[in-house]
Amino acid sequence: MDLRDRVALVTGAARGVGAVIAARLAEAGARVILTDVREEEGERTAADLGPSARFLRLDVTDEAQWNAVASQVIEADGHIDVLVNNAAVLHMGAIASTTPETFRRVLDVNTTGPFLGTRTVVPHMIAGGGGAIVNVGSVDGLFGNNGLSAYVTSKFGLRGLTKAAALELGRDGIRVNYVASGGGNPEMYAPWMERIVTFLDETIAYQNDRAIPGGAPPEAIADAVLFLTSDAAAHITGVELPVDNGATAGHFIPGFNRL
Ligand SMILES: NC(=O)c1ccc[n+]([C@@H]2O[C@H](COP(=O)([O-])OP(=O)(O)OC[C@H]3O[C@@H](n4cnc5c(N)ncnc54)[C@H](O)[C@@H]3O)[C@@H](O)[C@H]2O)c1
Repeated sequence: MDLRDRVALVTGAARGVGAVIAARLAEAGARVILTDVREEEGERTAADLGPSARFLRLDVTDEAQWNAVASQVIEADGHIDVLVNNAAVLHMGAIASTTPETFRRVLDVNTTGPFLGTRTVVPHMIAGGGGAIVNVGSVDGLFGNNGLSAYVTSKFGLRGLTKAAALELGRDGIRVNYVASGGGNPEMYAPWMERIVTFLDETIAYQNDRAIPGGAPPEAIADAVLFLTSDAAAHITGVELPVDNGATAGHFIPGFNRL
């Protein structure tokens, strides 16, 4: 999967899965623009990737910042071929304790952010003859989960955006796909960790109820993103690819394997 001569923009790339995606795309030959609101971490992560990567600050909820970043990239690199909408925030909490402000904030980052990104880069992709957009979603965008209403809604919405955009942009040579991740950076749920450890056995049981026990590692998500951005996926658009250790295959009942 060769991305030489491609310019790729990755959101939320200062750390976690986004940083690993940026590294994979750079290894495949792309020039990579890492973006995030975490400036120091982002600068460090980009520096570690070498001369083919650089960092630009971008809050994905801010249309003016999207336009400024796109203009800078076009001026420096001439084109934008790949957009990976990876930035997201998590909120854990029952509906009753989730404020409307929090709900809106989660949708703003996780769903409106990718919409703004798509809207910003598409004219540049069309000018360059096409492109590929990958939206990093979650298995929580394929099935519901209690205590996660804002996040689940945002990731279902992102899946809808993926399909609508794929249909709208296919004739412009732009493919749009969704990776339904079944794992990621544990730092994302750090604010809730103190309470999660009080029912750790339930959390472990949830992750072991899969064909392959445990969460999918960031490298596996990054490999799927690389595939979907590459020409190997030239005829794949509008799909959701679960990278989830088989979480969406069904439920694993240990005793049934001993019958
Ligand atoms: N962590 C998990 O277990 C898990 C599971 C399934 C899917 N995912 C998805 O994987 C993707 C990557 O998450 P991660 O696990 O690396 O978590 P993470 O918290 O390490 O990464 C998210 C990044 O997004 C950035 N970000 C947040 N708000 C932003 C904004 N307004 N503008 C720009 N950047 C912003 C953060 O600074 C952070 O660097 C996300 O889309 C997430 O929803 C994660």
